[in-house]
Parts: sequence; C-alpha cells; structure tokens
Amino acid sequence: MAAEPVNVTEFQELAKQALPKMFYDFYSGGAEDQYTLRKNIEAFSRIMFQPRVLVDVSCINLSTTILGYKISSPIMVAPTAMHKFAHPEGEIATARAAAACKTIMVLSFRSTCTVEEVASSCNAIRFFQLYVYRRRDISALLVQRAERCGYKAIVLTADCPRTGRREADIKNKMISPQLKNFEGLLSAEVVSEKGSKLAAFANGAFDPSLSWKDIAWLKSITNLPILIKGVLTAENAVKAVEVGVAGIIVSNHGGRQLDYVPATISVLEEVVQAVGGRIPVLFDGGIRRGTDVFKALALGAQAVLIGRPVIFGLAAKGEYGVRRVIEMLRDELELTMTLCGCRSVKEITRSYVRTERDSLR
Ligand code: FNR
Repeated sequence: MAAEPVNVTEFQELAKQALPKMFYDFYSGGAEDQYTLRKNIEAFSRIMFQPRVLVDVSCINLSTTILGYKISSPIMVAPTAMHKFAHPEGEIATARAAAACKTIMVLSFRSTCTVEEVASSCNAIRFFQLYVYRRRDISALLVQRAERCGYKAIVLTADCPRTGRREADIKNKMISPQLKNFEGLLSAEVVSEKGSKLAAFANGAFDPSLSWKDIAWLKSITNLPILIKGVLTAENAVKAVEVGVAGIIVSNHGGRQLDYVPATISVLEEVVQAVGGRIPVLFDGGIRRGTDVFKALALGAQAVLIGRPVIFGLAAKGEYGVRRVIEMLRDELELTMTLCGCRSVKEITRSYVRTERDSLR
C-alpha cells in the first residue's frame, strides 16, 4: 500500500502515479502557457501573516454558514468534470466524502454519475453547477432534475463560452465520453480525429451567446438561489449584485480558461470591496494549504472551494482520499487560526495578513 500522504502535494504525486497520462494531464493542466495556473498557487506565497500572541486559543471553531447551510469548515468541493476517470466510483465517492466532512459539494454539469445517483448516494449538501448549452432545453432540464432531487443552489459557470486551449489535451487527443446525465438527450460523438475530442464536443455544445440578460431566464426556470462562478473584476461583481444573484465565486477556472488573467487571490480583495457585503463572495483557485484558506478568508472570502486537490485525493485513494484531503486542509486551517490567534472564522479579518500592496503604502 502506498505511504500515507501528509499534504495535498503528496496526494498529487500519488495521483500522478495512479492515473493514465491522458487523465492526469487533463486534471492537472491549464490553458496555453499555464501562466495563470502557476500564479494561482505562487501568489499565495506573497501574502504574509500578522499573528497576535497571548490569545486564549484553547477552543477553535471552524464552522460557518453558506446560504443558510451550516458546514464544519469554510472548505467546499468545487465542481470538476468526470470523476470516473479518476476512480470507478466517480462523483458518488466524492459526495460521500463531502458528507463525511459535513461540507458542501458542487456537482459538475459534466459529471460521470447522474444528478440523481449522487443525490441518492449520500446526505451531503449539494449545489449543482450549470453550463448553458446551445440546447437550452437540456440545461433547463438538468436544472429542474437537480432541483427535484434536493440540490440547494445553482452555480452558473460564466467563464466558459468556449473551452480554453489546453495543449496537453490536444496532444493526448483527450476523449469525450457519453455523460450519463445526457443519455438520450445529446450525443457526445465527435467525428474529428484531430486534437482534443473533449474540447471539440464542448465548443459545439456551449452557448457563446449567454449574457447577463439570461440570468432572468435562469431565474424563470428555477426557484433555487443562483451563484455566478468566474467573476474576476469589481465591475462584474457589481453587475452580479445588480442582476440579483445570491452570491459570486471569484474564480479563473483553475487557470484552465483564459491564460494571463491574474491569480484569483490577487483580485479577491477588490471584488469583495465592490460587493460591499451585499452578497457572499466565495473563492477558488490554487488552494493547497490551510494557510491559503486563511489568507482567502482574511481577504474577504466567506469560504473557499477546492478543485484539483479533491481529484488528487480521489485518484490516489477514492472516497477515503477525498476525505483525507478535506480533513488535512481543515486541520492545517485550524492550526493556522490557532497560531494567528483567531478562534473563529469570523475573527479572521484583513488585519491578520500583509500583502505586497501593503508594503508599498
Ligand atoms: C474544473 N473546473 C470546472 N468548473 C466548472 O464550473 N465546471 C466544471 O465542469 C469544471 N471542471 C473542471 C475539471 C478539472 C479537471 C479542473 C481542474 C477544474 C474548475 C473548478 O471548478 C475550479 O474553478 C478550479 O479547479 C479551482 O482551482 P484549483 O482548486 O483546482 O486550483
């Protein structure tokens, strides 16, 4: 049996050993030069702590509430596609791990288990991530199926009118499986023999005309709260508040869409300031340590989502691996809070971190 990893990076190593190259490259890679992918992680190292000492930290409370749902720590599962390429149990294993950790899982629109299978497999609090396809009827049907089986929110991914250019997938001729959610609705067959079949399928399927006015359409087909994922600017954050969504997720899709957008952690604060507390701001991109979670919360995120770390845990050790990844990040966050002198998530404020911008002041 492989050695027990002690951090997320070691889980990544195990995942690399466990997976065929095509799938490891798909999960770990980013767009074009992968500059944003690297920056998402590196940018955290430029934020330093300003801890307070001699605080009674004998009791640390990590729990928080997202859209009214209490979770055990501010670490949620980001939507990532096609978990069965990582492990035969796919999204069911991930959802069970999320349930065991008492956190929220956002199920990808492009999951390899159906929305119903995931719903009936565990009692995790689940949100459903939505891509809007040219076939709007298919997207609408999926939203309604998710609503019917107890998903609590719709996460509209807004940064994907076309798929980013992921060159490893092009070289590997990444496959495009028939996803069970779409059985009988949409064929995934791609005739082209060139490049990434997945990208070819997605680019044919995504509706590039999707715009802000379509939020009204989405609201008309669901009663669930809507979060917009993929916001990177203050301008778009204000727009999201204006169209009346329940929250936003600051995200650059893990560096998989437009390369050379900034690291998400470096734009978080300006987005939070623009929102001004009117709706919750969640965050993803590059979280690999509990210290990263703390930094995102200090800069104003209500919670973070983790994408690749979950996949690495799943590929390495199935449901147990996902659980361990979430637990490890939670334990690291607890230690960071203890050493910073913060006893609850609410106590994590801007004054506990120092960014490069602060040094220039
Ligand atoms: C993603 N992401 C993503 N986002 C989304 O809205 N729908 C999806 O289906 C997917 N699929 C997907 C697959 C894989 C393999 C990755 C790595 C990512 C983006 C994801 O939700 C999240 O924004 C990033 O993964 C966050 O960055 P980290 O945590 O991976 O660094």
